Amino acid sequence: MKAAFLEKIDTPLIVKEVETPSLKKGEALVRLHAAALNHRDVWIQQGKYPKIQLPCVLGSDGAGIVEAVYDKEAQHWIGKEVVIQPGLFWGNNPKVQSQRYEILGMPRWGTFAQYVVVPVSQLYEKPKHLTMEEAAALPLAGLTAYRAVFSRGALKEGERVFINGVGGGVALFAFQFALQKTTEVYVSSGSEAKRKKALSMGAKKAIDYKDKAQFSALAKETKGIDLIIDSAGGETFNYLIQLAAPAARIVFYGITTGPWKNVQAAYAFWKQLSILGSTMGSPQEFQAMLNFVEQHKIKPIIAKTFPLDAIQDAMQYMAQAKQFGKIVITIP
Ligand SMILES: NC(=O)c1ccc[n+]([C@@H]2O[C@H](COP(=O)([O-])OP(=O)(O)OC[C@H]3O[C@@H](n4cnc5c(N)ncnc54)[C@H](OP(=O)(O)O)[C@@H]3O)[C@@H](O)[C@H]2O)c1
Repeated sequence: MKAAFLEKIDTPLIVKEVETPSLKKGEALVRLHAAALNHRDVWIQQGKYPKIQLPCVLGSDGAGIVEAVYDKEAQHWIGKEVVIQPGLFWGNNPKVQSQRYEILGMPRWGTFAQYVVVPVSQLYEKPKHLTMEEAAALPLAGLTAYRAVFSRGALKEGERVFINGVGGGVALFAFQFALQKTTEVYVSSGSEAKRKKALSMGAKKAIDYKDKAQFSALAKETKGIDLIIDSAGGETFNYLIQLAAPAARIVFYGITTGPWKNVQAAYAFWKQLSILGSTMGSPQEFQAMLNFVEQHKIKPIIAKTFPLDAIQDAMQYMAQAKQFGKIVITIP
């Protein structure tokens, strides 16, 4: 099979021919039609991810057709169109993942390849209203956004929501999901074109996170936001605390711009804020997310599609934050 390998940190991904992996008990072989990038892939390539083991085929998101299974009882999967749940070994506690938890695409070979081997338990039927490319865009980011907005954020109808850095893969799903519950969705983006897109999709207002005065203006205008979703971290986090309404929730799942800086913690406790960390989600949340996407006929937004042979261009596109939505890889 053709697969894109990261052999060393800070080197380009290399597409080469290798033997298709064989199956062990409990596993399925999926012929991938499309994969998608996550910021995780870029962090790994840049050496900014814990416990990196190389060489490895990266990629956590994929959609395709099940070609083979090891066990007789799983044969009904053969020929089915599937999306792959990228979180392995979550465990039994819905509140938190087990110590064994891992994400597809390092250390286990991932989806930037013609074939991937995963436990059968990771297979879910592809939502029928989605193409293979759209389905591949959904898993990791959709799951993270679903848990952040609903399980951790407990978004209620009519509440005011703020999505920071709406152009990001997870953030854009959080935006699309939140719009199904409330019309009071506010966003930020560093790009005017992305702010315009978000407004055309139903954002009530889109601010520029580079102009910090816009956070206080929005706080004044809205009298505070009930639920804030963030993955930027860094200096901006302090402005999110200011933007929050009394007793609001701030859910964060990343620190793209680095650790929180100069946080005025006193505001957070005086306002009775809940600051909630969130990571990926359980298999039950993955199923709930797929149901939600089917019920509301939500279509993932694909920023750009690259063929597998041009995967390094796709990685650069993400590293430069050019995308509005997901970057998808088509697989020959
Ligand atoms: N914990 C988890 O389970 C989990 C899961 C997925 C991702 N993550 C983390 O979450 C982050 C986003 O992941 P992703 O895959 O969605 O990445 P992505 O598609 O590359 O999106 C990153 C976005 O961050 C926004 N951004 C950059 N600087 C910002 C700032 N100063 N203030 C506000 N927003 C800013 C940009 O938005 P604009 O383009 O609109 O300016 C950019 O598009 C990464 O750090 C990733 O590692 C964590």
